[in-house]
Amino acid sequence: MNRYITVCVAWPYANNNLHLGHIAGTISSDVLARYHRMAGDHVLMVGGTDSHGTKPSIRAKQEGVSPKDIVDRYDANFRESFNAFNYSYDLYSITYNPYHKAKVQEFTKKFYENGYLYENKVIRPYCATCGKFVADTEIEITCPNCGRRTKADSCDCGYVPSEKDLEGATCLVCSGKTTQKENKVLVFKLSAFKDALLKHMKQNENIWRQNSINETKKYLQDLQDRDYSRDLDWGIEIPIAGFEDKKIWVWWEALLGYVTDVMRLCEERKLNFDDYFKNSTGTEKRIYLCHAKDNIPFHSLFLPAMLLATKEDYFLPNIMVSSEYLTMNDAKISKSAGNGKSAIDYAKEYNTDSLRYYLIANGPEKRDSNFTIDLFKGVHNADVVNKFGNLINRVLKFKGLEVLPEGNINPELKKEVLNAYSESAKLIESLEFKKYAELVMELVASANRFYDEQKPWVQAKEDLTAFNNTIYSCAYVIANLSNLLEPIMPDACKKLRGFLNLSAEPEFKEIVPETNVKLDKVEPLFARM
Ligand code: MF3
Ligand code: ZN
Repeated sequence: MNRYITVCVAWPYANNNLHLGHIAGTISSDVLARYHRMAGDHVLMVGGTDSHGTKPSIRAKQEGVSPKDIVDRYDANFRESFNAFNYSYDLYSITYNPYHKAKVQEFTKKFYENGYLYENKVIRPYCATCGKFVADTEIEITCPNCGRRTKADSCDCGYVPSEKDLEGATCLVCSGKTTQKENKVLVFKLSAFKDALLKHMKQNENIWRQNSINETKKYLQDLQDRDYSRDLDWGIEIPIAGFEDKKIWVWWEALLGYVTDVMRLCEERKLNFDDYFKNSTGTEKRIYLCHAKDNIPFHSLFLPAMLLATKEDYFLPNIMVSSEYLTMNDAKISKSAGNGKSAIDYAKEYNTDSLRYYLIANGPEKRDSNFTIDLFKGVHNADVVNKFGNLINRVLKFKGLEVLPEGNINPELKKEVLNAYSESAKLIESLEFKKYAELVMELVASANRFYDEQKPWVQAKEDLTAFNNTIYSCAYVIANLSNLLEPIMPDACKKLRGFLNLSAEPEFKEIVPETNVKLDKVEPLFARM
């Protein structure tokens, strides 16, 4: 088919170690990228570290270091974690990189020239001692409703302070008093795109999940213009006269990271950017946006609005892949609270193929799902070891078997294998990753049942031809599992290909293993927990 596929993975904020929740929320991206590559499509999987925003700055202030120090520390952790979980990024970058900055500034100028950025005057708290406008989260006031001390964005009692309430607030940085002063902001005319964004959703919602549709609709109903500038030190400078001392709000520029990553890859690899991102080329395209549910309106509305604001014939990202949340031991994961172990701890302690399988087959695809070590252990032992691992051992390590014998493939198993390819492709392309995992495990179960029925341990003594047919038929299924399961368990599948001397470049289509392959390399792929 040779379609042009961009797989976009949400960029984690660099304010803490990567959590298993982020893997759970984005693992589908790697399934998609691997599957499409195997299907012969042109694939770019992109993402990186979201380095700007107040989160790293606040963390930096607490530790007395620079925001960049903080960001680099967590960026290293993210890279290590995604590697450990075998994410097959074509480019993993970071939003403070000069290429991204320069391209984002070009976008910003276009938005401005096309009339989608306008200046507004607002009254904001200003700290004379610090010499700057301060964010709501950087000041404290006495709540006029309940009398307690509170941050300025909203009080625990539910009261939302008005502009007037902020007069004389306490600056949390220097403890001085702030005054209300007129400030300039740059605003993005999001409301101008209301109709176009609704149309875009309608055109694609047949593939979107319910959460993407619901959240997008809700946000669209009351679509407001949103600030483009922020009064921060850490971020990308606004290249517009009168705004040079302000930064671009982190969401706008981080979302553009998908586009700037693809631009960079296309330059480096001499590919045609337009094939991936412009309507005019007429290539068949899919742009997947993989993220968790709190990111939905940014991906379904802010990003396409920016692309429209260029007036440049951009192909709008068409497939939202929004996940629900993973809970750990029934508790909400909070990266800022830092609860639980981080993703890399799990990767070091457990088999990452098995973790990937768990997070795909039992992850938060359409509703929140829970992770506990006991649940994981159960799935690992029951599915990964007892079904998949066991099939490989009992067939390829059959006592006394040194080479793969010649034999006939059982027609029922062949039918099931062919069906698994076509059905898996459909399920993956309609974002039904859990069902896809189940379907392939059904094939594993069928092969195990076939083996039990044929009783090769009896056939070996009584009917060598029948024995060879059984072993070869099962080996045929195993060889095809090394393709079918590659998007979920890439490490195991790579080893399997080595065992059976299969091509190192897997494809998403039927293969027939060669006979007389020596089976001396075969070793158990998984250990019971
Ligand atoms: N940093 C954001 C978060 O962790 C996600 C940004 S995704 C991007 O929620 F596309 F905007 F980069
Ligand atoms: Zn101050």
